[in-house]
Amino acid sequence: MITDLVAKAAREAPLPAYVYDLDHLDAHMAAIAAAVRTGPGRVEIHYAAKANPDPGVLATVARHVDGIEVASGGELAHVRDVLGPDVPIAFGGPGKTDEELAAAARQADRVHVESRLEVRRLAAAARAAGTRVKALLRVNVPGGVGGVLRMGGGPSPFGMDPAEADACLAELPPEIELLGVHAHLASGLDAQACAAQGRTVLDWAAAFAARHGVGLAEVVIGGGMHVDYTRPAERFDWAAYRAALRLPDHGPLVRIEPGRALTAYSGWYVTDVLDLKRSAGEWFAICRGGTHHLRTPVAKGHDQPFTVLPTGTGPTIAGPVTVVGQLCTPKDVLARRVPVERIGVGDRVAFALAGAYALNISHRDFLMHPPPALVRVGGGADQV
Ligand SMILES: Cc1ncc(COP(=O)(O)O)c(C=O)c1O
Repeated sequence: MITDLVAKAAREAPLPAYVYDLDHLDAHMAAIAAAVRTGPGRVEIHYAAKANPDPGVLATVARHVDGIEVASGGELAHVRDVLGPDVPIAFGGPGKTDEELAAAARQADRVHVESRLEVRRLAAAARAAGTRVKALLRVNVPGGVGGVLRMGGGPSPFGMDPAEADACLAELPPEIELLGVHAHLASGLDAQACAAQGRTVLDWAAAFAARHGVGLAEVVIGGGMHVDYTRPAERFDWAAYRAALRLPDHGPLVRIEPGRALTAYSGWYVTDVLDLKRSAGEWFAICRGGTHHLRTPVAKGHDQPFTVLPTGTGPTIAGPVTVVGQLCTPKDVLARRVPVERIGVGDRVAFALAGAYALNISHRDFLMHPPPALVRVGGGADQV
């Protein structure tokens, strides 16, 4: 549902534009943080900055989380730049370069290590920096529960197999302080499935610690909370998720690492209709911009939900319409055969759920159209 604040910004913005509603994000984050912090045990939230590293989004999210997860040297530098030296940062991701490991040793609070070789390379980086590094072993824990975007629980370039984790413990270099275990097995899970996956990781980590006679201070059970693009009013049930984790009072610190379900609902991609065309019996609305700004529907294979703002004075139609962009490819489709009461030339169209994995995953240089404007509305916007 488009709010008055976003609708006003959408009517006034230079087009195309991303509109970030930071008031909405602030309230959404407050509710999530309250749900996650209620119950037995300790749960921390690290925001996966890859979902949306916009400075206004980062600053707003940061008020409600315990730290930020970054997955590249670029994200590390950006997050430090935007949020300053004090925000706790966890550095993860596969294929870290020597430069990234060196930066992580100096500027990150903990590193999620992806392989046995990477443990050795991180130790060398720590030695060169004259420091010890806090690390968690990212493990491809067996027995994940599915999900839309699977990253573990089977053959995977992410993390290490359990036997490799055993080997890492046997040869842990003195420069590495082992904090715990990290896993992120899949994305797109509802509350019960996501909690079941978290429990699988927690149980595995407890058995791993017992087998080696070590204490684990932290277990990261990943992100992956579902965003339902077909039902934009639905929300991940954070309270049910928290309860279903069934945490003991005195276990290790549990950390979750969500991205999509935090920021998706607070971002809008706004454009306008340049042309309306009937082709072989079907209506097409051709919009300024397209999937080079909002790649999400192509990447995930859904129709991006949208609201039509009747701002145009050109011809209009009603009925099923396929909304496309300006690119010379049949893949440039934002939504297919969606019934509408009205869409017309000059009308503005505001695509919802564009606050995560949207602009930053898009191939924005293709065809050299101008980039979208960035408009931040809401209380936090003036702090950026
Ligand atoms: C290691 C890791 N943590 C967290 C996330 C965030 O996942 P999501 O945005 O589905 O919550 C990702 C996403 O790819 C990831 O790779």
